[in-house]
Amino acid sequence: MKLPHSYYNPLSLAGTVISGFALVLIVLSFLFSVIFDAGSSYLGLFTYILLPVILIMGLLLIPIGMYRAVKRAKRLNEPVSTRWLVIDFNDPRYRNAAAIFVIGTVVFMLITAVGSYEAYHYTESVEFCGQVCHNVMKPEYITYMNSSHARVACVECHVGQGANWYVKSKLSGLYQVYAVVADNYPRPILTPISDLRPAKETCEECHWPEKFYTPRMQFERHFLSDSANTQWDIQLLIKTNSQHSANNLVEGIHWHINPNVRIEYIAEDESREVLPWVRSVNLATGDTMVYEDSWAPLDSATIAAAKPRVMDCMDCHNRPSHNYLLPQQFVDVAMASGNIPFLPEIKRVAMGILKDPYPTEDAALSVIKTEISKFYQGNYPGIPAASVDKAIAGVSDGFRRNVFPEMKASWDVYSDHIGHVEYNGCFRCHNDTHMSSTNDKITRDCNACHTILKQGRPGEEEFSGGSEPLPFKHPVDIDEVWKESLCTDCHRYLYL
Ligand code: HEC
Ligand code: HEC
Ligand code: HEC
Ligand code: HEC
Ligand code: HEC
Ligand code: HEC
Repeated sequence: MKLPHSYYNPLSLAGTVISGFALVLIVLSFLFSVIFDAGSSYLGLFTYILLPVILIMGLLLIPIGMYRAVKRAKRLNEPVSTRWLVIDFNDPRYRNAAAIFVIGTVVFMLITAVGSYEAYHYTESVEFCGQVCHNVMKPEYITYMNSSHARVACVECHVGQGANWYVKSKLSGLYQVYAVVADNYPRPILTPISDLRPAKETCEECHWPEKFYTPRMQFERHFLSDSANTQWDIQLLIKTNSQHSANNLVEGIHWHINPNVRIEYIAEDESREVLPWVRSVNLATGDTMVYEDSWAPLDSATIAAAKPRVMDCMDCHNRPSHNYLLPQQFVDVAMASGNIPFLPEIKRVAMGILKDPYPTEDAALSVIKTEISKFYQGNYPGIPAASVDKAIAGVSDGFRRNVFPEMKASWDVYSDHIGHVEYNGCFRCHNDTHMSSTNDKITRDCNACHTILKQGRPGEEEFSGGSEPLPFKHPVDIDEVWKESLCTDCHRYLYL
């Protein structure tokens, strides 16, 4: 089969071979993934991204080679046709070239259509976001797989609907690929995400504020770090919503996102951990309240220059999908579920090990193994080795799911804003020091957000009579300190 002379040059021929190979490989790996349903992350990376790039580069080499061949022929004064494009269908060369061009274009368009559809889906898949760069995204991926949203794709929260956010996310994705290749990405990955899409366009696609929830029952089981691992249970009714409404504003925790309410705040810095200035506006009546932290108020110039952030879901639910539990939390969970057996002093021993920072996961796992074995061999030689091994496995498993030394990702850097015991969360505003000009406070009343229905050691619990909430009793005697100070003043540092 003959083609125009200028085609027969090394570059164009190489381009043909390269693009031919790429095409065959694309078709084969596409068929492979369809027939064997083996949509592995790396195969997708080849089929939909790398190979098509090679294919296009190969195709580009063909005209480049032809152009260079014509120029070279001109330079050497070889006979070339200088006239513009004469297509003479009596000449079989042009018939062949035209046929190849037409068929090639149709096939290429079809492949491009299927390919870009598949590429779109592939780059939106959980495998692509969570697993391709698995060292970098390991903390987010593992915590995500342990969350209630494990079946919600990353992009549902991080990109959402619509072409402009898709393009925006792929553009920032390009930079991220560069950062990974150049190995200059931050460890840990920064939080909060400064340009996260507003919750209205992501979370609210599935959870909408007009349809909010009945109060939620929450049951917490703790183990103290004494020699008996004393169990302490707390049952709370969390007032996500409440039955009565005043001024058309339904009260309860989700009042903050009632469509008639707008709460804004100015944060001390980008971490949003300290919120010295808060404004609440009732959009129905126009009533406005400004609360300032009476301990550390902002000066008026800072307030005037600041751009307040409007509170949304993310200001409380910032860890719906990547929640890094503290050691005391994941050890309690594992003890309650039986993954860590009830050996004497196990909570204290585990805390003694987990309080330290480790450079790598392997280093931590090896210390967990040797220290726990050593402790029980030395102090309780009668305990069977199988139970000690089970305890080691339980503590190691908790560590692997919640602490990621290589990426420096853990509870220490990723606060959870729901609650107030380990992080300030609600108490960033509800701390009794935020005052309005009329001396109203943002409440810290222990019954404003939840009522305690049950608390205490098994067999000695106190129960609430139903309508009357129980006054909180701190599990260990710390006098009345908890009434005045923040819970985090002690709870972040309990075992350090
Ligand atoms: C239910 C919604 C949701 C899903 C699903 C989700 N994320 Fe997130 N992600 C968030 C929120 C909310 C934040 C915290 C945003 C903030 O505080 O600014 C976040 C933060 C992050 C961060 C920044 C580090 C951090 O923890 O603050 C990364 C990286 C990330 N997500 C990656 C992923 C990957 C990869 C997946 C899928 C495997 C995923 N996310 C799935 C909601 C989600
Ligand atoms: C694609 C739909 C979808 C999106 C988007 C989504 N969620 Fe969810 N979410 C769910 C489903 C389904 C559940 C129920 C899971 C269950 O019952 O275990 C859930 C559960 C929850 C819960 C209760 C979980 C628990 O452990 O108690 C919270 C809180 C929540 N979502 C917050 C959010 C926030 C905040 C966002 C936005 C960052 C978000 N969701 C985005 C589907 C979604
Ligand atoms: C002022 C803080 C706050 C804001 C703002 C907030 N929530 Fe919540 N939400 C809570 C608390 C507290 C709970 C109780 C569950 C818990 O403690 O984890 C809860 C519970 C939920 C649940 C689980 C309900 C159940 O019965 O399990 C969902 C879903 C949820 N919120 C979605 C949202 C969405 C979506 C938004 C934004 C439109 C939002 N929340 C805004 C504090 C908040
Ligand atoms: C940015 C500051 C801010 C944060 C953070 C915040 N709140 Fe609020 N909250 C307010 C303001 C302001 C009010 C209105 C106070 C008033 O008008 O009495 C309020 C009111 C409430 C009310 C209604 C109180 C009443 O008088 O009925 C509840 C319940 C509540 N918040 C729960 C929570 C919970 C739970 C969290 C954490 C998950 C939380 N809030 C986090 C600012 C905040
Ligand atoms: C602004 C709302 C708010 C106020 C005020 C508040 N709490 Fe809470 N508290 C919460 C929320 C939300 C949680 C649930 C956190 C979660 O989902 O794990 C919680 C959880 C708890 C828990 C269970 C913690 C655990 O891990 O077992 C205890 C105990 C508790 N609160 C005690 C108190 C006491 C004592 C006070 C008064 C000094 C108080 N709370 C005031 C919102 C509040
Ligand atoms: C003066 C320090 C201090 C303050 C303030 C404090 N705690 Fe504690 N808390 C402790 C100590 C110490 C323990 C026992 C830990 C152990 O034995 O493992 C404990 C244990 C607990 C436990 C059970 C076990 C655990 O590790 O979670 C709960 C629940 C608890 N505190 C709730 C609160 C709440 C809610 C507040 C704030 C209203 C608060 N604490 C304030 C020191 C404090």
